[in-house]
Amino acid sequence: MAAFALRENGWYLRQDIIWAKGNPMPESVKDRCTKSHEYIFLLSKSRKYYFDYMSIKEPAVTQPKARDKNKEGYQADYPKGDRFSSGERVYGADGMRNKRDVWNVNIKPCKEAHFATFPDTLIDPCVLAGCPECGVILDPFMGSGTTGLVARRHNRNYVGIELNPDYVQIAENRINSAS
Ligand SMILES: C[S@@+](CC[C@H](N)C(=O)[O-])C[C@H]1O[C@@H](n2cnc3c(N)ncnc32)[C@H](O)[C@@H]1O
Repeated sequence: MAAFALRENGWYLRQDIIWAKGNPMPESVKDRCTKSHEYIFLLSKSRKYYFDYMSIKEPAVTQPKARDKNKEGYQADYPKGDRFSSGERVYGADGMRNKRDVWNVNIKPCKEAHFATFPDTLIDPCVLAGCPECGVILDPFMGSGTTGLVARRHNRNYVGIELNPDYVQIAENRINSAS
């Protein structure tokens, strides 16, 4: 509902990414399945936007097929042109492929916080693909500061907003002790 409301307000809803948790919170339900996923929405304010897909590519499961190589021996660059165009090589030849939209990341307890925190590895691809080096990342619900921590790790700046002053302290401690 949030995603559709944002789209109504002019945002482009580019993708719904599934965060699949291998270790979800158990639920004592008998009339539905236990929930083991959450959504990550990729929203943009304009049709064209920054997205560094190369920075988050993942290991390919299959080898590139010979028929997909051009005369330079490169795997075709599908996103930029026809599959036999020369020059660029993206997927396959290096054993990597474009990141898929189901992300398998286990939840990890954060010893400082009693509320649900993001695992670092969930935020890594968001930071890498969504913001250039030295750019600025906004987290309006900063909690324990995971976004700031990951932003710093990847040489990005960040702005965090948090309602609860105790959590602000937790975030500052975590970020400072990691630097
Ligand atoms: C689930 S936590 C976020 C956890 C965070 N992703 C992390 O990894 O630690 C949500 C946070 O949003 C904060 N929050 C809720 N409403 C807010 C508001 N209106 N403005 C700022 N922060 C708010 C809560 O205090 C809480 O710390």
